[in-house]
Formats: sequence, structure tokens, C-alpha cells
Amino acid sequence: MQKGQLVYEGKAKRLYETEYPDVLVVEYKNALTAFNGQKKAEEQGKGALNNKISSILFETLHQAGVANHWVKQISEDEQLVKHTKIIPIEVVVRNVAAGSLAKRLGLTEGHQLGQTVVEYYYKDDELGDPLINEDHIKLLNLVDSDDLARMKDMALVVNDCLLDCFKQCDLKLIDFKLEFGYDRSGELMLSDEISPDTCRLWDIETNEKLDKDVFRKGIGSVEKSYSTVLERLKGGVSNG
Ligand code: C5P
Repeated sequence: MQKGQLVYEGKAKRLYETEYPDVLVVEYKNALTAFNGQKKAEEQGKGALNNKISSILFETLHQAGVANHWVKQISEDEQLVKHTKIIPIEVVVRNVAAGSLAKRLGLTEGHQLGQTVVEYYYKDDELGDPLINEDHIKLLNLVDSDDLARMKDMALVVNDCLLDCFKQCDLKLIDFKLEFGYDRSGELMLSDEISPDTCRLWDIETNEKLDKDVFRKGIGSVEKSYSTVLERLKGGVSNG
């Protein structure tokens, strides 16, 4: 597979063309950003860890019947994906109060929500990715109502699948963010990445944070936390 022109560079990934128009190479970067790009750092090895974690999770979701863009991992920090046109909506799914939900609603971090909460954010850096509702999505014509309903259904299936997968690794899935897109044939599918950059994951016993909050809050080693997640996903539940 030939790696061609850079087609897009985001905060955490670069996308390259290949000789096939419907397939792209994703390179996971070591860059870490938080608070809409206001806090930045480089973390050696982070790109490779997220590439491997995301590959395991996308493969698991394929097996669970969730259509997604992942094709295969091709190197330490690269994977092949289907070329998708991203819908500019971030779908956040929450099981436990944390982050912006805890702040907005005055809930204690760690409070088990009595129901799964699904939220939508408008992907727009200049506006700071505001929280939006279904009427806003209709107003801005971001996606049609049937596909929004399918995105929500898929997000809930992803939640069930990942809750189970992480539980087997002694990890609690607090919340996560998903992005969706259309492939070249117009099929709606899960896209982007699923990694400790985009999920909150806590140790099931100690509630130790093993995700990007370690960087956001400056409370430990990102490399050590993400490595723990990868090792546990690979099968050996280690508490080290
Ligand atoms: O900050 P907030 O509590 O709204 O984040 C909810 C979840 O979505 C967290 O797991 C966070 O890592 C993820 N997220 C993300 N990218 C964003 C915003 C949130 O991956 N731009």
C-alpha cells in the first residue's frame, strides 16, 4: 500500500491518500491537546498505543456487527481505513458523571447515571464544539433525521459492546465520544478513533484514571496509563 498525499491533519492524526480512492492511511500522532487546543504536549509512544487500542476496539465492533471505517493496522502508528466524509457531529455517550456533564448539571464525578445519556456536539473549533440538540442539528442541516436516529442506535450498541469488553479488562467505561461518516458508496459508519484520548476509563477497583484526564489534570504518566489499557485489552489484566 503506497502512502500518498497528506489529505488532512487534525490534532491527533494525519490522513494520507493511497493508490485506492476509497482507502486512506491514518497516522496516529504523539501530540496531546486539551481544552480546545489550549494545553499541548508531545508524548513519545502515544500514537502507537492509540493506534493499537483503536485497532483492537474497531475489530471488536466489526465482530459485533457495528459498521466502521477500520480496515487493518499496517504499522506501529498507522492503520488503513475506508475513506469517509465525516458528519460534523460528536456523539458523546455517558454511563457515569464526569467532565462537562458533572460540571454542567452539578453532579458529583463518579455518580452512576440511572440511564445512559447521549449528547451531540457541533464539531466546530471556532465555536468551541458547542452542545446541540436534535432541533439544532435539523436547523443546521448537519445530517438527516433518519441517519441521526441510526447514529444514536449505533452509539448505544457501541456502548453495550465496549462496556462489556472493558469490564472483562477490569476497566470501567465512564464516557466516550464517537464520530460517524459516509463511505464512498454512501454507507453510514462509525469513523475516527476509539482510544483513551476519546474515552474515560477508570480502574474497576481503585477508580484510577487511565485516559486523557491524566494529561488534562496533570495527574500521572500518559504513557503508563495508556499502556495499561493496551495490556489489559490484549488479554493480561495487570494491575501494575
Ligand atoms: O469533556 P466531556 O466530559 O464533554 O467529554 C466527554 C467524553 O468525550 C470524554 O471521554 C472525552 O474524552 C470525549 N471527548 C473527545 N473529544 C472532544 C470532546 C470530548 O474525545 N472534542
